[in-house]
Amino acid sequence: MLRTHTCGELDALAKGTDVTLAGWVGSRRDHGGLIFIDLRDRYGITQVVFHPDKNPKAYDIANKARPEHVLLVRGTVLKRPDEMVNEKIPTGTIEVEVMSAEILSPAKTPPFEIEAETEPEKEVNEERRMQYRYLDLRRSRMKRNMAARNAAVFSFRSVLQAEKFLEIETPLLTKSTPEGARDYLVPSRQHPGMFYSLPQSPQQYKQLLMVGGIDRYFQVAKCLRDEDTRGDRQAEFTQLDIELSFVERDDVLNLVERLIRTCITTLSEKGFIKKRLLYQQFPRIPYDEVMLKYGVDKPDLRFGMEIYDITETVRGCGFSVFTDAISLGGVVRALCIGGGVSRLTRSAIDELTELVRKYGAKGLAFIKVKEKRNDGSGFENESPILKYLDDDVVQRIITQLQATSGDIIFFGADARGIVQESLGQLRAELGKRLDLIDPDVLAPAFVIDFPLFEPDRENGHYAPMHHMFTMPRSEDLALLDTDPHRVKSWQYDTVMNGYEIGGGSIRIHRKDIQEKIFERIGFSEERRAMFTHMLEAFEYGAPPHGGIALGIDRLLMILLGEPSIREVIAFPKTGDGRDLTVGAPNNVEQSQLKELGLKIHVKP
Ligand code: AMO
Ligand code: AMP
Repeated sequence: MLRTHTCGELDALAKGTDVTLAGWVGSRRDHGGLIFIDLRDRYGITQVVFHPDKNPKAYDIANKARPEHVLLVRGTVLKRPDEMVNEKIPTGTIEVEVMSAEILSPAKTPPFEIEAETEPEKEVNEERRMQYRYLDLRRSRMKRNMAARNAAVFSFRSVLQAEKFLEIETPLLTKSTPEGARDYLVPSRQHPGMFYSLPQSPQQYKQLLMVGGIDRYFQVAKCLRDEDTRGDRQAEFTQLDIELSFVERDDVLNLVERLIRTCITTLSEKGFIKKRLLYQQFPRIPYDEVMLKYGVDKPDLRFGMEIYDITETVRGCGFSVFTDAISLGGVVRALCIGGGVSRLTRSAIDELTELVRKYGAKGLAFIKVKEKRNDGSGFENESPILKYLDDDVVQRIITQLQATSGDIIFFGADARGIVQESLGQLRAELGKRLDLIDPDVLAPAFVIDFPLFEPDRENGHYAPMHHMFTMPRSEDLALLDTDPHRVKSWQYDTVMNGYEIGGGSIRIHRKDIQEKIFERIGFSEERRAMFTHMLEAFEYGAPPHGGIALGIDRLLMILLGEPSIREVIAFPKTGDGRDLTVGAPNNVEQSQLKELGLKIHVKP
């Protein structure tokens, strides 16, 4: 070893020890002849001191050392005088008096200051950070995130190993898994004109592993989907991919709960996070209930403010906005903002109206609930729509929403999908605007009882809500022919703080059911033939099985309170899919194309 200790481990107990340290030059201070350097590595910072008289050669080196030079120092650990102790760092009680020093590697002036990250005015543009990721990784934010990610993945592995799972790698060069995104294709040199595809997930392989009797599988799996990246989405991301045989839904969900709990405990114990779980047990909420109450299938449960269906309450009332929506088969729903009268100004309400319009709503009716009249009879409410509504209808709405004086009730009346989405977005916006969200809280939950197919597709085809290998409920099998939209499946999602962090299902293990689903999705013979291997495997004794994949990047983003998954990925891609560190994608040589039998028609 070039060094005897790291820059994070020496304390007063080491007093008098001769040590060798290596690291990067952080801040450097010249104090009346003495030079102090903060020497930094992954583990911390140690102050090293250079004396011009005692060790002039070393002092010369210190004079030449510039920020980010890699420096090796040999010296003695001294206890700092009491008034020089730095309580903020673990090595703050000592310093190393340098006897000899060597610059192992000089550094150009870095494009941004490594240690200035807490100063907002020195905030570095993210593209810059991505281009010089190797410098960004030296900063404490990235160091923490990489170490936390390691601890999280290690905690998953230890839980799964203890529960007899086998970690198995599945191919990256494979045949397309239709998860709904575009595939990355890889041309084959040996089979000109043919392509591998990079896996969107190991879905088919893990099912085949179950047919292979592996029984319990997991993998920290790279998944590749050629789609536009955004805050919680990368073209290349990592799943904790899991599959088990002879299990039911709750076995999988209980396992996921154990994994996430262990991960949170581990990260807390190691000091990476200070967050608390909102509830003892992860709630399991049916899809229909989630869509009604929160308007999205990945609700943020850190705050309440649930949406109520008031279609029956207002049926036949005099307000045409409501009655027209109902007569067209739509719904009327409402949500109540506690104390909204004083918290939302007229212009805030106008902005919220604009917001819901973006999601197709035609307006945003509201009622301000006010004190009873002086004589104690009824409410003195305020709203442009009161003139259309009888007092007793208003009273029933107020009762149903448990509204009290000072609250505002917002309404949505339209087709169900529009009301769901617009009020769901309204709820999410109000959660932020009114500061209802405690950033230190984690609110995980499972969404269960999904429909098998996505609702209301226009083109007459049925698209799987999760993927085509998801098992329909046995009691609903007959509906596959008569009313496919009413078929429920064994899909489940894991959600946390408004994000989907995992998805899975109990799978189809019967050839006849799988074929039926292919037929309902409208697969051509050609498409169907791409799955012959799955159908054939099911003919050789397929165990009932199910599994899930957790999005490791998303989970860590939430746990670490980061705004995007890029912050928890060592080398992330930009919004348009570029790796700025190495400069990918790039052009390749003509000879490479020729070998692959490819010709480029479109020049960038
Ligand atoms: P699914 O497609 O729902 O399921 O993915 C599972 C989880 O992976 C995460 N995720 C992503 N994270 C970052 N960037 C992306 N582009 C991205 N896409 C998905 C999400 C999501 O919940 N094979 C199935 C799993 C199964 O059925 O077992 C699958 O891949 O957190
Ligand atoms: P109008 O009578 O059209 O002026 O609408 C009266 C109120 O109802 C206004 O506050 C509108 O924003 C609101 N409104 C109109 N259409 C809808 C709708 N589909 N859902 C909810 N509110 C609506």
